[in-house]
Amino acid sequence: MTGGGPAGGTETGALEIDVDDRDDSLYRLLSSAVVPRPIAWVSTRCEDGVDNLAPYSFFTVASVAPPVLLFAPVDGTDGLKDTPRNARDTGEFVVNLVTEDLAEAMNETSATLPAGESEFDRAGLERADSVAVDPPRVAGSKVAFECSLHDLIDVGGSTLVLGEVRHVHVDESVTTDGKIDVDEIEAVGRLAGSQYVRTDDRFSLERPP
Ligand SMILES: Cc1cc2nc3c(=O)[nH]c(=O)nc-3n(C[C@H](O)[C@H](O)[C@H](O)COP(=O)(O)O)c2cc1C
Repeated sequence: MTGGGPAGGTETGALEIDVDDRDDSLYRLLSSAVVPRPIAWVSTRCEDGVDNLAPYSFFTVASVAPPVLLFAPVDGTDGLKDTPRNARDTGEFVVNLVTEDLAEAMNETSATLPAGESEFDRAGLERADSVAVDPPRVAGSKVAFECSLHDLIDVGGSTLVLGEVRHVHVDESVTTDGKIDVDEIEAVGRLAGSQYVRTDDRFSLERPP
């Protein structure tokens, strides 16, 4: 039985949410339930040459062949955020992996800065030259995907940014026998709000044939 409250609460505490009856954002619900999310730490260079860096956790692999990554900026109060705007204007970006040692710096780069100021400098992060694209990668990031823009797709108040991977940088500290070693990648994921999760508490399941 539905309780009729604005959140669709029931007497048991369960929620039955009829989205058509809601005029507020489902952001909190979506970002609390779709967890943990990997974090794309995206570097771009604006047309004026300023290096931009920002985290996006609405992020996944969109395709393997061709290799395409996807992240989804939600429009800010002024419309398109800097990252999707730079990706649209220059056709290039780099997705940097966030590991625990970089988590605080990553968080710092989510601040809104005045035009002309780079989040790299604000967070004291060293740049490294990319190989296939113009924007720099985060030097301390263990894996970086250099991408050229594949497509931009409007979905209501969000923009899906799809990037085709052109070059991958993998730090030697996360490789074993010439392959990326998942046991060495201390990636962090995002939960809701200011909560994050580590990826070093693991278990395995064999897939059925
Ligand atoms: C861990 C983390 C994940 C985030 N994920 C997203 C996201 O998926 N979509 C989004 O629009 N904003 C996200 N944000 C907020 C943006 O990082 C923030 O709006 C930032 O200022 C955007 O910078 P830009 O305008 O330079 O692109 C996230 C922030 C943090 C700290």
